[in-house]
Amino acid sequence: MTSKRGVFLTFEGPEGSGKSTQLRLLVHRLRTAGRDVLDTAEPGGTPIGVQIRRVLLDAKNQDLSPTAELLLMFAARAQNVDQWILPALAEGRIVVCDRFTDSTLVYQGAARGLGADMVYDIDRIACRGLVPDLTLLIDVDTETGLGRARRRNQRTQEVETRIDEQCLEFHTKVHAAYRRLAEEEPNRIKLIDGNRTEAEVAADVWAIVETFLADKLAN
Ligand code: TMP
Repeated sequence: MTSKRGVFLTFEGPEGSGKSTQLRLLVHRLRTAGRDVLDTAEPGGTPIGVQIRRVLLDAKNQDLSPTAELLLMFAARAQNVDQWILPALAEGRIVVCDRFTDSTLVYQGAARGLGADMVYDIDRIACRGLVPDLTLLIDVDTETGLGRARRRNQRTQEVETRIDEQCLEFHTKVHAAYRRLAEEEPNRIKLIDGNRTEAEVAADVWAIVETFLADKLAN
């Protein structure tokens, strides 16, 4: 894999977990502290990734097959890794990404039923061994999260709703798969209770990231 000197942080969570708000708060805080940060998102991030995101999330694309969905997620990710993430890490920057391969393991691997092996196989091609150094998993009750996501979609007349409009069973599988991942990788994945106020969640995020960066500087 390409050598890296920077730090790669990711946010994960089911629909309506508040992770994107938490990402913005963290990035602002890191920049205020003088850190050089690249923030990006998946699917999306790069201009090409944003075009792929439209295909993936457009509610009109109901015929998109699970395998095509998986490959498009990784197409956006490969573009992000090559164009933005690896160059930023090579420059020693902190990269903060809204979702990464853990999302694919959970949504396509578990909830769509494609299996983790298929996800890891394509990850090897698209990401070439790049794994987040630290992942902040914002956990929220499935129905609370879906309620938040639906209110947001109505307010903004959102059209990127193809995946959040999946049935409750799909989102219950997403939630359970995230919790399993956190149990399997407790060192990398930090589970944070997202059922609290924005400020309470942000305080936990900051405490975890501050400790992580301090440890990293010491080693
Ligand atoms: P977002 O709402 O966090 O921007 O994510 C967009 C949707 O895409 C969300 O429903 C989760 C889904 N998704 C996957 O299904 N697989 C993936 O690999 C990624 C990155 C997102």
